[in-house]
Amino acid sequence: MLEFDEENARRLVAVYTTPDVVDQRRAIRAVLALQPGEHVLDIGSGPGLLATEMAEEVGADGRVHGIDPSDSMLEIARHSETPVDYGLGDALTLPFADEEFDVAVSTQVYEYVDDIEGALAEARRVLRPGGRLLVLDTDWDSIVWHSSDRERMARVLSAWNEHLADPYLPRRLPALMRAAGLEPADAAIIPILNVGADRNTYSAGMLGLLAEYVAGRGGITADEATAWADDLRSLGDDYFFSINRYVFVATRS
Ligand SMILES: C[S@@+](CC[C@H](N)C(=O)[O-])C[C@H]1O[C@@H](n2cnc3c(N)ncnc32)[C@H](O)[C@@H]1O
Repeated sequence: MLEFDEENARRLVAVYTTPDVVDQRRAIRAVLALQPGEHVLDIGSGPGLLATEMAEEVGADGRVHGIDPSDSMLEIARHSETPVDYGLGDALTLPFADEEFDVAVSTQVYEYVDDIEGALAEARRVLRPGGRLLVLDTDWDSIVWHSSDRERMARVLSAWNEHLADPYLPRRLPALMRAAGLEPADAAIIPILNVGADRNTYSAGMLGLLAEYVAGRGGITADEATAWADDLRSLGDDYFFSINRYVFVATRS
């Protein structure tokens, strides 16, 4: 899977501050509708951008905790001057007592976790009865990415799917949540669409990371990965990318 080391953490911050991902966080917060005073856990908080925004929403009477297994991510998150409590932790063994939180969120994290049933059981354990869990993940079948070489694009995307435990997790999430004692209450889709030459976008920011990851996987050579990225960068006004994120909110029974 993808390693969230210092270099990749730095790259992700650049991508997560593009307008696409700023809009994504705004959409997540609209679905979540946090209330002042709520106690929130961000599972796999990464660079802490969503955690910071949630801390502003719950205000001084609320609290936000962020946990992540990556020291590099935690170091970035701790740089921001927000009242979020960060700590080392894993979705499968949350370092909190039962029923400690009103809300838990996990955005683009469960798709990396092998034991999704275990992760949902842990999220449920730390939520109070009636508390809510928001999960956002990408279904990589939803991608449309124009290229001059469709066959090469298909092989690159297939190799890239290896960076996740389940690149198609969203379609299974409602059933998995129900089985874990989390009743699905709301679902939404957050599309990302990049058309034209603008480089300050999610997909343009991900190009380098993808090219590096796929080189040497699935029969793709380093030269081929570079040629793939160069082709996309040369498309100018003909550049086209879209993908869907899926958001689910479930209530703990
Ligand atoms: C794509 S980033 C998303 C970060 C953040 N949730 C966001 O949406 O901005 C994935 C994060 O999940 C974390 N992660 C990976 N496996 C995890 C696990 N088993 N438990 C908790 N977090 C995990 C990574 O360290 C990384 O920070």
